[in-house]
Order: sequence, then C-alpha cells, then structure tokens
Amino acid sequence: MCGIVGYVGTENTAPILLDGLRRLEYRGYDSAGVAIQSGGEIALARAVGKLRNLERALEANPIRGTTGIGHTRWATHGRPSEVNAHPHLSGPVAVVHNGIIENHLALRARLVERGAKVVSDTDTELVAHLIHEKLREGHGGLEDAVRRALRELHGAYALAVMSRDEPGRIIVAKASSPLVLGLADDATYCGSDIPALLPYTRRMVFLEDGDLAVLERGTARITRLDGTPVERPSKEIDWSPVMAEKAGFKHFMLKEIHEQPRAIEDTLRGRLDRERGDIHGHEIGLSEDDARSIRRVFLLACGTSHHAAMTGRYYLESIARVPTTVELASEFRGRDPVIGEGDLVIAVSQSGETLDTLVAAREAKERGAKVLAIANVIGSAIPRMSDAAFYTHAGPEIGVASTKCFTTQLANLLMFSIWLGRRRGTLGDADARALVEQLARLPILMKDVVGGTRQLVMNVAKRYRDARDVLFLGRGLNFPMALEGALKLKEVSYVHAEGYAAGEMKHGPIALIDSAVPVFVLMPKDRWYDRTLGNLQEAKAREGQVIAIATEGDESAHAVSEDVIEIPLVHEALAPFLTVLPLQLYAYYVADLKGTDVDQPRNLAKTVTVE
Ligand code: AGP
Repeated sequence: MCGIVGYVGTENTAPILLDGLRRLEYRGYDSAGVAIQSGGEIALARAVGKLRNLERALEANPIRGTTGIGHTRWATHGRPSEVNAHPHLSGPVAVVHNGIIENHLALRARLVERGAKVVSDTDTELVAHLIHEKLREGHGGLEDAVRRALRELHGAYALAVMSRDEPGRIIVAKASSPLVLGLADDATYCGSDIPALLPYTRRMVFLEDGDLAVLERGTARITRLDGTPVERPSKEIDWSPVMAEKAGFKHFMLKEIHEQPRAIEDTLRGRLDRERGDIHGHEIGLSEDDARSIRRVFLLACGTSHHAAMTGRYYLESIARVPTTVELASEFRGRDPVIGEGDLVIAVSQSGETLDTLVAAREAKERGAKVLAIANVIGSAIPRMSDAAFYTHAGPEIGVASTKCFTTQLANLLMFSIWLGRRRGTLGDADARALVEQLARLPILMKDVVGGTRQLVMNVAKRYRDARDVLFLGRGLNFPMALEGALKLKEVSYVHAEGYAAGEMKHGPIALIDSAVPVFVLMPKDRWYDRTLGNLQEAKAREGQVIAIATEGDESAHAVSEDVIEIPLVHEALAPFLTVLPLQLYAYYVADLKGTDVDQPRNLAKTVTVE
C-alpha cells in the first residue's frame, strides 16, 4: 500500500526522499511524488508509474530544499494518474496520506460548496483543502489547523503535512495506518516503514493511533490529538541497511529464500533450552497458570501468514493438545464469533499492520480473549495492541511474496507449541528433547535443501514455465505447504495454481488433471505418507506430470514421478520447513523466466492496510 517519507534537516532533501521511496517500493505503488520547501514556495514533482519516472522529472526540473515529503501511491480513490498522485496541494498546504478517509463523499460536497477547487478524484486532496480552510480561519498555525481538520476526518490515515509559510517543519499524524519517526542529531525523518529510514538512523519512534507530531530538525514533539503531550520512547533498531539490499542476488525474493537458514537461526537464538527440551518463554508474555488454563486457541491471519497459522494448528493440537481453530482474519471480524475469557488469540502477521488481522484481534480482545502477536516488525500495530508479542527475527522482508517471514512464523508457532505442551504436561521429556534438537539443526538442513535442490527446481521450472495450470497436493502438515506453493506461484508468476488437501482430489479437482498439468506432490515420510503416495498414483494414472517432493531415497516416489526433489528425513513437524523451500524456488524461477516484476508483482502490496 502507499508509502510515506519525510525529511527535515540540513541536506538537500530530494535524493533522501527518492531513496526512502525506493526502499518502500516493495509496498506496491502505481505513482509517486514529492513536495519540497524551496525558496519560500512548495515545489511539486509527480509521475505515474515507477520511481524512475519521478527521478527523470526531478532531473529535468531539479528542486533544492532541506524539508520535504514524498509518497508512493497505491490507487484506491481514482485511477493512477499524475493529478491523483500525492502530494496534494491547497494554497500553502501540501499533504501526503496513506489510508482511506471514509467520510470523503460528504467532505467533498461540503468543501466544494464552500468554494474549494477540487481537481483530483482522491480523498487526500480533500484533507489538503480542509487543512487550508482551517488555516484561513486563522486561529493558529499549521499544527492547530491539522489538529482541527483531523477532528472532521473518519477513517484510516498516516499523514505528513507541510506549509509554505512554516519552513523547516512537518506535521505528521496517525490513525490505523503505520508511521514511524527516525531521529538523528541534525535531522528528523518519517516513513511508513523502518527500511525507508535505515540508512540514515536506527533510532526510531513508533507513533500510536491518535498521535500528532511536529517534526523539526533533530526533534519530534509528540502530542495526542487534543494537544496533551505524550512521551513515546525511541527504540534502537538492529536491522542493518545492508539487510534491506539485494547483496548480489537478482531479486529480493531470491535473496530472501536463501536467507532462510540465517533467519531461522536468528529466530531460534536464545529461545531453545536443549538441556531440558524446552523453550525459554519469557517473551511469550503468558504465565504458567495461563498456559495451563487456556481453553482454546484461535489463530487469526491472512494470506501466507494464514498458511503458517494452519500449520500452527497441527503443532498446537498434537503437541499441546489444546483445541485450536484457524480463521481468516477477514472472515472472523464482524462475524460475531463465540470467543471470550480463557481463549487465546494468536495473531500472525509478518508486517504487524494487516488491517483485517488487526481488527479481528481487537474484536477478540474486546470480548475478553488474550492476544499474542507473532510479528516480524517490532513496534508495529498488532504487537502494540496485543497482550504480548513473540517476534520472529527474519530481518526486513522486501519482496512482496513472503518467504523468510513464513518459515520464521512456523518456527515461532512450533516453539510456542512446545512451550505450551511442556506446561500442560502433554509433551514428555524425550519427545521434547528430540523436537528441540531437530529445531536446532534446522538452519543447516534448510541450507542444504536450498543449495541442493536449486538446480533441479530451475530445470523443472524451465520445463513447465508455460503450463497454464499447476496443482499442489499435500496432507496433514503439508496441506498448508501445498496452499502456500500455489499462492507463491500465483503471486509472482501469474500462473493459475491450486493447492489441495491430497485426499480431496477425488472429490472434484482430479477432473483437471491431464498430460498438460504439472502436479507437485508433497510426500515426506510421515504418518500421511502411504495415503499421499496413493494420491500420487491416481494423478499419474490420469497422465499428470508428477513432481514429488519426497524424503531422500524414496524408491516409490522415484518409480512413479517425472522428477523427485529430495529432502532429508526429519521429524514430521519439521518437514514443512523443508518441503516449502523448493516450492518457493519454483515460483521464483517461473516468474523470472516469464520476466514478471518478481519483487513487486502487479496489484499486490506488502502491507495490506485496507479492507
Ligand atoms: C504473501 O506472499 C502475501 N503477499 C500475502 O498473502 C500476505 O501474507 C498477507 O497479506 C498477510 O500479510 P501479513 O503477514 O503482513 O499480515
């Protein structure tokens, strides 16, 4: 979704804004723009399409100045066009906005009636006119005008506002959409996400909903909307700027697939108690009593995080024996679910900002459930509203298609289940030790699988790159991996793909299979193996092109498949970490062969802050 950056300092701001916007590209956008205080005026540059177009516009007409705001727009109100691109101006006021102003129709009518000249289709331009109107009423400066304008807005927003008449100052405000401030000695930054600011500072402040901040060079004064001052402590972010760069890989997605062993290692670090076969649970934020008294667990998530949550249900049920439901957050919210005290909600979200997950978790909390967040972005909205946060440590994930965040979510869900199982007495010493030992070995195993299967997967991708439809089948713990394999392929290569529980094949989808359809069958040696092998044979009998993802040395898989991608023999709980890797690689290679925009697939956004 949209990206915001802002800078007040001593340097020429245009390159800083462009650099910040480039680091937010992964969020998805269709136009971009900057507004810069320059020579007592506000100068504007906007362009449709990629940032290169904005860069060219700025090369043709350079703007110099040391205070500015920039924006990448993902169209909601009005098509992508220069006039709809942000920043929007009204008189001396310039505004960039991420979110949706819900009362925009009524607002537009009122503003037009009072004489505003509205030129775009956007809700954001109305915010600029409203602030301008408040300024003209003349009670105070920009800060006061923004404060009074915000009282008339309903909806979600992260806003950055400047006035021609107040050089060296940016006002920002936040309600539901993400906004982070970066503090340096001689400059203050704002951005929609941490990576935009990383090259400039690691000292960040996360604003809360209802905060308004006045940014000046090196300072940020934060108040609530009613003017009450608040302290928001700054946090040192330990992500390095290099982590958000491609490091020689052609795309972020490929780099992030290869980074998974490191991401898992960072996520496990300090949490495994190998001696006792336990998990150090201090971050989990639940007491031993809580662990024993939890009635039910609800896992809430969207997209890839939902697939991690589906796997989490297997872990929680089999290891901690706690009744568990998995819900798409978008379906859970507003459904009037039966949930309350004694229930635990685990909200799984890499960004920590997905609106559906945020709202669903909030609804559950209001009904008395405890909320535990599993998120990758420290200080993001979902962990902030939750009772506790159990962070993954994948580092910044820039590719829109989630890979390393997914496997680190699996790691946290497995660790949480072990922790819970130990406290509930459902996981014995020997089993716990075996699981923890295998978890500790996971980074090495994942590295071997990525390195060892890469070439074969690339060959398979070359063979099937033009397939119109692709099927992914799995059972048990590998059913969510089948769904994830299909989602990855759809997202980045735009190939139609379906993931199915292998046992469902004969209830309909088997009709799709013929010699033109590649069928990936996920069949590690686990308790579902024999039945999955049966399904593989059914696919083969219909002339499907079978690619098995199977345990090393599985002769049966070799006998009936066109290709076998091998993974080592592991505890069945660990297999999803390995079976998903070739699927991620397959999606990547098909997309790369097709020449799609792998890191920013069409129509997608990294952080989905709309409904
Ligand atoms: C993953 O590849 C997708 N881009 C998408 O499905 C994503 O997982 C979903 O939007 C949820 O995001 P979150 O983890 O940030 O909540």
